[in-house]
Amino acid sequence: MPNRKVTIPDLFEMKKNKEKFSMLTAYDYPTALIIDKAKIDVILVGDSVAMVVMGHKNTLPVTMDEMIHHTKAVTRAVERAFVIGDMPFMSYNTSYEKAIENAGRFLKEGGADAVKLEGGVQVKDTVEAIVKAGIPVMAHIGLTPQTASQLGGFKVQGKDAIAAQKIIEDAKALEDAGAFSVLLECVPAPIARIVTETLSVPTVGIGAGSFCDGQVLVTHDLLGLFDRFTPKFVKRYAEIGKIMQEAFVAFREEVKKGIFPAEEHSFMMKEEELFKIKNFDKD
Ligand code: KIV
Repeated sequence: MPNRKVTIPDLFEMKKNKEKFSMLTAYDYPTALIIDKAKIDVILVGDSVAMVVMGHKNTLPVTMDEMIHHTKAVTRAVERAFVIGDMPFMSYNTSYEKAIENAGRFLKEGGADAVKLEGGVQVKDTVEAIVKAGIPVMAHIGLTPQTASQLGGFKVQGKDAIAAQKIIEDAKALEDAGAFSVLLECVPAPIARIVTETLSVPTVGIGAGSFCDGQVLVTHDLLGLFDRFTPKFVKRYAEIGKIMQEAFVAFREEVKKGIFPAEEHSFMMKEEELFKIKNFDKD
C-alpha cells in the first residue's frame, strides 16, 4: 500500500493482489490523526457517530449537518487514508436530486473522497445517479442498521438459501450501478466469500468473516470505548475506556488531596515583585 493518499485504484489493485485492506470509523480530529498515522487504509465517518459519540439509541437521528461537521474534523487530520462519508437516514431516500445534493456536500464541504449508503437492489438507481454525478459510492448491504426494524432487528442476514441469494443479487446490482465497493455487514462467511469472488469491485466486511477484501470495525468498539453492547464480531484491541476512567479517578483524588497542581504545573513570579505587592497591600 502506498505512503501517499490511498485511491480507489489502490483498493482494486489490493483486491487483485489478494492484499487485505483495513478500514476504521473516525468522527473527530485527534482520533483521525492517530488512525491515519497507524496507516489504516480507509476511514469511514460512520453514522454510528449517532450511537457511540452522541448517545442515541440507534443511527437514525443524526443529521446531514452533523455528519458534515464530523467529516470536516476528520478530513482536517487525514493525509493518507481514503475518507468516506456515511449518508444518514433520509438523506438519499426522498429523491435522486436530494441524494446527489447531499452526497455532494460530503465532498464539497466535508472534504471526503466518497460516500457510503445502505440498501440493496432498491437503491441501485440512487447509487447510479450519485455515481453519474461524479461521486464515488460504497454500497452497504446485509444488516443495514438504518432499516434494522424492517429486518427484524440487529440479526445476521442471509442465513437461508433464499436470503443469501438476495444478498448476492443485491451486491451484483450495486456493482452494476457503479458502486466502487460493497460493504457486507453481518452475513455468513461463505456468502461473503461468494460475493467477494463474484464481484470485480472490492468488498469490505464487518461480521462477514475473513474472505472479504477488507475489514472494518467501529473504532469505539475496538478500543473498548462503547459499552452498551458488544456484537459477536467485535474484537477489542484495547480497554481505553478503563484507562480513561482510571486517569479521571486519579485526577479527582489528587485534586482532593492537594497533590495536583504541583509546583511544576504552576506559574511563579520573582520574589521582589511579590514583595512589592505585599508592601502595596500593607500601605
Ligand atoms: O456507521 C458505521 O460505523 C458503519 C459500520 C458498518 C462500519 O456503517
